[in-house]
Amino acid sequence: MLKRIVYGVCGAAIVGLGIFSIYAWHPAIDPVVPTQTDYSPQVIEQGKILAAAGYCSTCHTPPGGTAYAGNYEMHTDFGTIYSSNITPDVETGIGGWSQAAFARAMRTGVSRDGHHLLPAFPFEHFNKMTDDDINAIYAYIMTSVPAVNQVKKDNGIPFPLNIRWFQAGWKLLFADTQAFEVNSKQSAEWNRGAYLAEGIAHCGACHTPRNALGGEKYDQMYQGAAIDGWIAPSLTSTSTSPIPWRAQDFYEYLTTGNSPYHGSAAGPMAPVMHKGLSALPDSDIEAISGYFAEIARTNNTDDPDSSSTLQAAIAAQHQQPDQRIDEGARLYATACQACHYNSDQLVKGRPLITIGSATHLNDPTNLINVILDGVRSDQGISGVVMPGFRDALSDEDITAIAAYLRQAAGENTWPKLQQQVGEIRNQPRFEH
Ligand code: HEC
Ligand code: HEC
Ligand code: HEC
Repeated sequence: MLKRIVYGVCGAAIVGLGIFSIYAWHPAIDPVVPTQTDYSPQVIEQGKILAAAGYCSTCHTPPGGTAYAGNYEMHTDFGTIYSSNITPDVETGIGGWSQAAFARAMRTGVSRDGHHLLPAFPFEHFNKMTDDDINAIYAYIMTSVPAVNQVKKDNGIPFPLNIRWFQAGWKLLFADTQAFEVNSKQSAEWNRGAYLAEGIAHCGACHTPRNALGGEKYDQMYQGAAIDGWIAPSLTSTSTSPIPWRAQDFYEYLTTGNSPYHGSAAGPMAPVMHKGLSALPDSDIEAISGYFAEIARTNNTDDPDSSSTLQAAIAAQHQQPDQRIDEGARLYATACQACHYNSDQLVKGRPLITIGSATHLNDPTNLINVILDGVRSDQGISGVVMPGFRDALSDEDITAIAAYLRQAAGENTWPKLQQQVGEIRNQPRFEH
């Protein structure tokens, strides 16, 4: 009897494994010599804009490297991953890929030769795109990106996670394979914003928390997550920002790199907006902003300038704490205040740190990053710089300033603040 059950269970497992391997197996698509080169200039231009909005070159180009030739290094919880060469080089890039092979990779994360790609490549978002949009990106890469011969480095993912076949199981469990669905209850503009945000611009790849195996938690969409040594804040009603985000605040942030009521795009968000979203027409950024304003459910359209929250924060700047007692306040006054003081109203480019997101997040990571490395001219507001204090301030100094700002912002102290300052100082810096 027992034997029969054992045989039964084993049999079921073998059948299951067999079915899984049929599911997991994808054929190679034969290499081709792409014959079509006569795409219309409009299609190529559309592909160029979409490739920018999908940050293809951000992830497929290492700092200082050749565009699209790959080997950009991504540090994940599972090990180091290198991006592929997606220039039209026949030997080492995608020069021998048919349009069908490219579309399959973009929709299902399967390479031309049939091997599964890791979800560091955000195919579950690109899957939301229309055929026309995917084909336009293909047309742009094949006709306009110079071919570069460069072999992809092997990923540093330990066994058994490096078995590509397992990715099929991951996809089965976690990947959103649904096509984009138009929400008929919403306007055409909202749907355009949703289409771009969920698809090509893959905002959720960074802003949605992930489970232990790296799958996006779709029931917590856009509720904030750690990414590349930074915190991508919640973009929903769970945002800790004291001044609610309105559509025009999203728009200002996404077009200028800064919202006076929230702060600057100084980390991974900087290339997203400066090198990515900036390629999209204004109407598309408006659509994305409207989509997120609806998600953030901020029906509030009050002018933040006259809000009591902002007035109180500005007034608080004038009441100096006793600097003989508070070391953080003293350091802040000497190192920061000259640039961060607003007399009676907010001035763009002089962030009021006590209302900024970096100070109000439950995690001090973004504030520590900005104090250590500042804001380069190609980050935040274009051409505007904040110096880094990596060499000028010790871990104790940075801890004191951050603790002072946190308390001045009316928030609870961050536990393990000094430990985090030390850890973040020694982390590899986010480059881009
Ligand atoms: C967040 C980083 C990231 C972004 C953004 C990104 N990619 Fe990738 N891509 C990767 C990584 C990493 C791989 C390799 C994954 C692996 O080793 O399994 C990859 C692989 C690919 C492949 C498979 C190549 C092959 O030889 O198998 C294609 C095609 C591709 N990307 C195209 C694109 C396009 C087009 C865009 C922009 C619309 C894009 N990628 C944006 C990270 C990214
Ligand atoms: C020389 C002027 C200057 C000094 C000194 C300075 N900052 Fe800044 N800071 C800026 C500017 C300008 C920006 C906005 C940069 C941009 O958006 O391009 C900024 C931005 C910020 C931000 C917002 C970034 C974000 O992620 O939202 C924080 C936080 C910040 N500074 C903290 C500090 C602290 C703390 C100090 C002192 C240790 C300091 N700053 C010293 C000029 C300065
Ligand atoms: C590569 C990861 C990444 C992608 C993709 C990304 N973000 Fe971000 N985002 C971040 C990080 C990290 C921050 C924190 C600030 C920084 O990095 O400069 C941020 C900050 C923001 C902020 C400011 C939030 C606050 O409370 O201060 C907004 C708004 C935002 N992102 C919107 C978007 C939208 C809209 C998209 C898609 C169009 C998007 N992000 C795509 C990583 C990302």
